[in-house]
Amino acid sequence: MKDSYIKNTIMNRLRKTKLKGSSKARRAGMRKLRHVNRENQRLMNQYERTQKKVTIKPSDYQCEMRDQKNVVEFDNLQTHFFTDMGVVKAVDGVSFDVPKGKTVGVVGESGCGKSVTSLSLMRLVQRPTGQIIGGQIRYNNGTETVDITKVPIHKIQKIRGNEIAMIFQEPMTSLNPVFTIGSQIDEIIKLHNPGMSKKAIRGKSIEMLRVVGIARADGIYHSYPHELSGGMRQRAMIGMSLACDPKLIVADEPTTALDVTIQAQILDLLRNLKDKVDASIMLITHDLGVVAEMADEVVVMYAGRVIEKGTALEIFQDPKHPYTVGLLNSKPSVNKSVSRLYSIPGNVPNPINMPGYCYFKDRCDKRMPICDGDYPPMIKISDTHLVACWLWSEEVLRNG
Ligand SMILES: Nc1ncnc2c1ncn2[C@@H]1O[C@H](COP(=O)(O)OP(=O)(O)OP(=O)(O)O)[C@@H](O)[C@H]1O
Ligand code: SF4
Ligand SMILES: [Mg+2]
Repeated sequence: MKDSYIKNTIMNRLRKTKLKGSSKARRAGMRKLRHVNRENQRLMNQYERTQKKVTIKPSDYQCEMRDQKNVVEFDNLQTHFFTDMGVVKAVDGVSFDVPKGKTVGVVGESGCGKSVTSLSLMRLVQRPTGQIIGGQIRYNNGTETVDITKVPIHKIQKIRGNEIAMIFQEPMTSLNPVFTIGSQIDEIIKLHNPGMSKKAIRGKSIEMLRVVGIARADGIYHSYPHELSGGMRQRAMIGMSLACDPKLIVADEPTTALDVTIQAQILDLLRNLKDKVDASIMLITHDLGVVAEMADEVVVMYAGRVIEKGTALEIFQDPKHPYTVGLLNSKPSVNKSVSRLYSIPGNVPNPINMPGYCYFKDRCDKRMPICDGDYPPMIKISDTHLVACWLWSEEVLRNG
């Protein structure tokens, strides 16, 4: 069964890539693909066995927070995808904290691993190809601290939606088109409040729709998702996510598909709700304007790694990494007159074959001989500001 799967995958790949050349080259290509598939299968089986372990003792997943002020601590998180092209290191050693009651903005170019980081936190990475292969995600719910990467499935199901809510970029992919908005919110409230009466559940659902600013909440309760505008659907989705007063809201590009007025309203809504339930927000976005408006702390990611983190003031007023500087320069401004909008030259390296040196080197106008060596470590600029760039190492600063 496994061998026929491998053979079919190899044949499909060869057909797709229309591998040309001598039969010797073809055989070598097949051998390589077969090897990649075997190795992937072995690793995926190994990680799946751990995931499906029947008895997981509390001592296996309970742990201690490094700082009690945090609600989540990502610590050297590694999430990889075992594809037949090779291993995609989507998240490769990511560490940052989400403090209680604060908003942390996660920014970076498309494909840098923002969504995979948030999906790892919810344990929603697409299995079996996607696997968390290392690191910890420590989560404190006020009574205990657990390592999300190790908790059993029944426990993560209670955490998801109840304590950590996720708002996805495209509401239509999260709302079921064949059920009314009301019945979908009811279902979530019922799941998390098993003893609640039908009338009380309905009342709470309508209240949630009102909280997110939907006028005519009674009517919308009976509507289907396709009968709502994009902004209303996004509001309904937010209402659904917040129905159980979560401790942490993970918002992955919550406003990308919306126009600027609705975007401002949704951001206001998130801010008000956060203050009301004293939750933390992990806000993932491409939009630096949104981050500047919302975030207390900022994490900049590049090619699966955190390359700079600090308070919003530090990142916006004193960016240290050449990539962050480029990102800020490429932000349009009404006060600046430019003939052409700046864009960072070059592309992100291939995630399957990452180099050993700084991943930004081939695009960096500040590169030095030291940049050809190891990947730069996280260098402390202040207690809150850290950057992974050789420019700020003692050695380079000392030698001018
Ligand atoms: N199911 C998957 N199988 C294989 N690779 C994947 C899968 N999901 C994500 N990836 C890879 O992981 C990397 C990170 O993807 P991710 O979705 O986290 O990017 P992102 O930073 O959220 O980008 P965007 O801003 O475009 O949403 C990308 O290289 C992507 O191709
Ligand atoms: S380590 Fe070197 S190549 Fe990388 S961002 Fe810093 S200066 Fe540029
Ligand atoms: Mg994404």
